[in-house]
Amino acid sequence: LFARESQFSTAASGTDHLPPMHKLEIAFAGRSNVGKSSLVNALTGRKTLARTSHTPGRTQQLNFFDLGGFCTLVDMPGYGYAAVSKEKVKSWTQLIHDYLRGRANLARVYVLIDSRHGLKKLDTEVLDMLDTAAVSYQIILTKSDEPKKGELADIVAKTREAIARRPAAFPEIIVTSSREKTGVVELRAAIAQLLHE
Ligand code: GTP
Ligand code: MG
Repeated sequence: LFARESQFSTAASGTDHLPPMHKLEIAFAGRSNVGKSSLVNALTGRKTLARTSHTPGRTQQLNFFDLGGFCTLVDMPGYGYAAVSKEKVKSWTQLIHDYLRGRANLARVYVLIDSRHGLKKLDTEVLDMLDTAAVSYQIILTKSDEPKKGELADIVAKTREAIARRPAAFPEIIVTSSREKTGVVELRAAIAQLLHE
């Protein structure tokens, strides 16, 4: 699936600029700085395909990547970043919500959660919105290299419990570290499975 080159295709700053819905899409959503762009790079094996940063608010548009010609991966701006203007936060939030609700070819949203912190209020709100819109989603825990083993197991259990009764949630949680390249094989398998459904 990922043997062929993945490449950047286009960016959209508003829902009136979205590319045509040619292929199935998957999207990476999550709080600012959770590691969305880093995971795009780990997944595609391209170190600098998506731009990453230590400071939150790096990704400011919807960035569309072609995954080896099979599907489109969308790297989204993070939500909940307070240090930019209120107006900007409002327009990002609008963009994220409009995109997630209105994209007919969107096969699944991967909601990335920092494995040090678990689900926060803003994450829960996004899950609520996805449940209401009946958009299939799956949780990816990121930065699994950071917490201690016991803490990680605790967060996995808590997160599993939190999504157990959510209608649009895929029950399996994928635990990843872009730094140590763990969970990447599992994520590829999940995407491949999704494309064959
Ligand atoms: P925005 O675009 O601002 O929403 O952020 P993002 O979610 O795309 O995060 P990004 O990939 O830019 O990474 C944010 C920071 O987290 C960077 O400093 C990364 O080096 C770091 N980071 C990403 N993945 C990992 C990981 O697996 N482990 C650790 N320890 N740090 C990571
Ligand atoms: Mg980013």
